[in-house]
Amino acid sequence: MAEPMTGSRLLTPLQRRLLRWYCRRGRANLPWRAQRSPYRTVVSESMLAQTQVERVIPKFESFVRRFGDFAALAAASPADVLREWKGLGYNSRALRLRDLAKAVMERHAGALPTQLDALLALPGIGPYSAAAIRAFAFNIDDAPVDTNVARIVSRVVFGVERRSGAPPQTLVEHARRLVPRRRAHDWSSALMDLGAAVCTARAPRCLICPLKQDCAAAPVAPEPAQRARQRVPFERTTRYARGRIIDRLRDLPAGRRISLLDLHGQLETTLQQSPEELRGIVDDLQRDGLVHCNGESVALPE
Ligand code: ADE
Repeated sequence: MAEPMTGSRLLTPLQRRLLRWYCRRGRANLPWRAQRSPYRTVVSESMLAQTQVERVIPKFESFVRRFGDFAALAAASPADVLREWKGLGYNSRALRLRDLAKAVMERHAGALPTQLDALLALPGIGPYSAAAIRAFAFNIDDAPVDTNVARIVSRVVFGVERRSGAPPQTLVEHARRLVPRRRAHDWSSALMDLGAAVCTARAPRCLICPLKQDCAAAPVAPEPAQRARQRVPFERTTRYARGRIIDRLRDLPAGRRISLLDLHGQLETTLQQSPEELRGIVDDLQRDGLVHCNGESVALPE
């Protein structure tokens, strides 16, 4: 697969990692992402507010076929809109969506505004929907913070779990700061997909998470370099001491022995072990048949 167009030099490592993940694993082919318009964003956000993505897909497609733009939806009867909404539940959403379409026709000649205050003045549009429209429909650097996004930001930035409910303003501000410039659509899509597939509420899959290096809540594993540093140096090991003892005994003229005290004295600068530890190592060498020790002196076995 070709390397994604992430404009990597302008991105922080965290941003690069998530956008790359989105290129490989994200759901860019969802119908409201593959083919975008402000109208499609508004319809999909209304449906996704209380219904799972898989159930929304076929309903979204038939709805936008039947009512292709704000004008068509505004002109439809409430009954027709409710009929088309069948299967999605929370039917008042259908009527609020139609009210919104009428307001967009009356106040903005059928074209959704991009400014935050103009969006917030429309019926049924709160801070989440306004940010979603700006990010998903216009790719403006804004951050819609739904439950998934709030959970991810809370874990990554603060290392803590969040209780449900409206996200506090500090979390929304942190979420905004993370948005890469001119990548708001893909960024928020990526966060939502990550929340659905990896950074889930109950069993987050931290081992496969693209943000595990960046996340304050990820389980800590010792770095390989650290583990290597903690390992005992070879020169301090018993194996090293055994080798040096045998070397010294090899150098003795045939038939000669060396006292354990002299052996320790001669190897003192090479080995870290105390005289008692040296005696223990010599005992082990004797057990392995590599030396002969008579209690006070030692030699290679003749
Ligand atoms: N893509 C755009 N908006 C979404 C949402 N609310 N949930 C999941 N995916 C989305």
